[in-house]
Amino acid sequence: MSTSAGLVIPCKAAVAWEAGKPLVIEQVEVAPPQAMEVRIKIKYTSLCRTDLHFWEAKGNTQLFPRIFGHEAAGIVESVGEGVKDLDVGDHVLPVFTGECGECGHCKSEESNMCDLLRINATRGVMLADGNSRFSLKGKPINHFLGTSTFSEYTVVHSGCVVKINPLAPLDKVCILSCGISTGLGSIFNVAKPKKGSSVAVFGLGAVGLAAAEAARIAGASRIIGVDRSSKRFEEAKKFGVNEFLNLKEHDRPIQEVIAEITNGGVDRSIECTGNIDNMISAFECVHDGWGVAVLVGVPNKDAVFMTKPINVLNERTLKGTFFGNYKPRSDLPSVVDMYMNKKLELEKFITHHVPFSEINTAFELMLKGQGLRCIINMEA
Ligand SMILES: NC(=O)c1ccc[n+]([C@@H]2O[C@H](COP(=O)([O-])OP(=O)(O)OC[C@H]3O[C@@H](n4cnc5c(N)ncnc54)[C@H](O)[C@@H]3O)[C@@H](O)[C@H]2O)c1
Ligand SMILES: [Zn+2]
Ligand SMILES: [Zn+2]
Repeated sequence: MSTSAGLVIPCKAAVAWEAGKPLVIEQVEVAPPQAMEVRIKIKYTSLCRTDLHFWEAKGNTQLFPRIFGHEAAGIVESVGEGVKDLDVGDHVLPVFTGECGECGHCKSEESNMCDLLRINATRGVMLADGNSRFSLKGKPINHFLGTSTFSEYTVVHSGCVVKINPLAPLDKVCILSCGISTGLGSIFNVAKPKKGSSVAVFGLGAVGLAAAEAARIAGASRIIGVDRSSKRFEEAKKFGVNEFLNLKEHDRPIQEVIAEITNGGVDRSIECTGNIDNMISAFECVHDGWGVAVLVGVPNKDAVFMTKPINVLNERTLKGTFFGNYKPRSDLPSVVDMYMNKKLELEKFITHHVPFSEINTAFELMLKGQGLRCIINMEA
């Protein structure tokens, strides 16, 4: 038992009061975990585009004030009633999608879309009682994706908490709690390219480059990066991207360009921008007969995917994934071990570090398209 167990913890959190406005570091109160919940002391968190997407809230749910953040690592401070497999002091990664272990999805080998704990961006409260565990001067603050890691302490459902090797450095493996695992899984678990194949990756941010890295590990020989910013290409070479197409330099659909340079289309494509036109291009640029396209980027909620049915009839496959189809609690420890066994390099995804007090810098960098992951040190 920790000394703070069962008590409300006052601590600092970065609160988003309004869409698109800088976060404000506030003193908040974090209630103790309820049944099947865990309270975590966050050590490091990083910014993923999905935080930025819902913070900008363009055409999306407006749920403010809110504490964003879902890519993080920390240490269990206390556990609620009924939590059996997590304990005070465990090193953990909170994940935006969970694993109850009981439902049809959790029991299926093919799905990570848990009925109870799958991603839900429109809920700002905890499942147990429909309340928030965060308050500021007595007023509740909304959670985000059940994780809200931009806070020194947060409460997460135990099914969304992954116990990891305690020797793993939390300032590195925090990026496995969303973006990097998502990119890796989109290739290893979903697209599954064969050795020697061609893969197009749309969006060369951390998620896209993790997909490129996985394609390289899987033995793809042509990895074509597509982005609207040429400055991404230099960085992308470190992740196996060996050809580059800048969308802005072509005045015809990029799928036509890709079909031309690949003799009919790539074997696999991964979409990691969230832009609807790119999603359609990513689908239409795969080869007929066998091509598989995987959507990873998060679209605006009203976006509509349109393509001619003949593109599908011609034996192309369209797939989508959350968290690269990894079941977080079952699968993530082995991804952490890949890093520990030097089969996966995480350092090259980490381009910036800021103290928690400068969290808005991480947002500015991502808005300007600078760097990949920015690690936010909660204790600096
Ligand atoms: N499905 C999932 O489980 C999951 C998990 C994590 C992130 N995501 C989503 O994946 C996407 C990528 O996340 P990230 O953290 O790597 O973002 P990022 O901002 O680091 O990278 C995005 C990249 O896409 C490029 N880009 C953006 N808009 C573009 C456009 N219209 N055309 C061409 N290039 C464009 C940018 O230049 C940048 O290189 C986001 O949509 C994010 O919400 C999904
Ligand atoms: Zn994310
Ligand atoms: Zn489940």
